[in-house]
Amino acid sequence: MMNKTIPIRIDKTKQSRLETTNFDNLAFGQIISDHMFVAEYKDGEWQELRIEPYGPMQINPANATLHYGQSVFEGLKAYRNEKGEILVFRGDANQRRLNESARRMCIPEVPEEIFMEGMRKLLEIDKDWIPRQPGCSLYIRPFVFAADDYLGIRPSNNYKFMILTSPVGNYYSKPVAVKVETQYARAVEGGTGAAKAAGNYAGSLFPARKAQNEGYDQLLWTDGKTHQYIEESGTMNVMFVIDGKLITAPTSTGTILKGITRDSVLILAREMNMPVEERFLAVGELEEALISGKLEEAFGTGTAATVAFIRLINIHGKDYVLPEKADGAFSTRVLTQLDDIKYGRIKDEYGWIMKF
Ligand code: COI
Repeated sequence: MMNKTIPIRIDKTKQSRLETTNFDNLAFGQIISDHMFVAEYKDGEWQELRIEPYGPMQINPANATLHYGQSVFEGLKAYRNEKGEILVFRGDANQRRLNESARRMCIPEVPEEIFMEGMRKLLEIDKDWIPRQPGCSLYIRPFVFAADDYLGIRPSNNYKFMILTSPVGNYYSKPVAVKVETQYARAVEGGTGAAKAAGNYAGSLFPARKAQNEGYDQLLWTDGKTHQYIEESGTMNVMFVIDGKLITAPTSTGTILKGITRDSVLILAREMNMPVEERFLAVGELEEALISGKLEEAFGTGTAATVAFIRLINIHGKDYVLPEKADGAFSTRVLTQLDDIKYGRIKDEYGWIMKF
């Protein structure tokens, strides 16, 4: 973590919403905490760093983001340990990934000290928004977007970097049903699939809505060219345990988000002596594993989703129900270990926890 302190103007709310907020049964993303961090990119530098009450902001209808979607974001979480200290999971990795996404979308990078100090100060001010309820956390949403008022198409000259926080429970409250998508594409090689860019999510809404209308929770995207290989799920990376091996798609094609939970699960899996295969899984191989009973587990990994168990997979119109999870299933063990690290219940051997 950076030690450098940078000047941030603080304007605290006179009317906290904490007292009137119900922290029981927290859904994902519905409540935003009292304050937000804001920085402006003007004349080639980030400036006007401030924390102010969360609330509406003025946007000119000609704002470039509204028209062309030059916008990237991140998602990370803060937890509270038994001593009441604030723990942030792998914030350095999110900071780096925000800038990788920014580069792809022609957005200026956010310096590490602005990201870290903005987040640190915001968490200090809104620390009482970190839920104490088991399994809950404070979701942190940094994002950068174009701020030029201009209808021509070119990279903006002005940007805003902002951080919001939101007390959350699980993104998926129960095991999910997914549908293998073989008509629409989320990403293609050379595209923006690896970036956490707003447009990737917008483009997935229509196909996902179609699947939701048929009763599925999410899609399992396949590669955009042949639709023969499983890629990710849009809201999360996906992993399968087949014949005792953990299989997940590689991120080398640039079509899949380099999930930080994905990376953490793979590191923990290797430590647990679980054989890991980072390779593309053919839809046919997945179907065959479901039919033969070789598919033991399937789950998604993500900051919001954590480790989300998959209970049903639809392939080419046919529903396959996954077996009941066995005692000691890998996904349960890895979720427990991840949670124990995030909530500070066990020693963090990996340097993943940032203490604030
Ligand atoms: C996250 O896991 O942080 C995401 O951004 C996924 C989003 C669908 C909430």
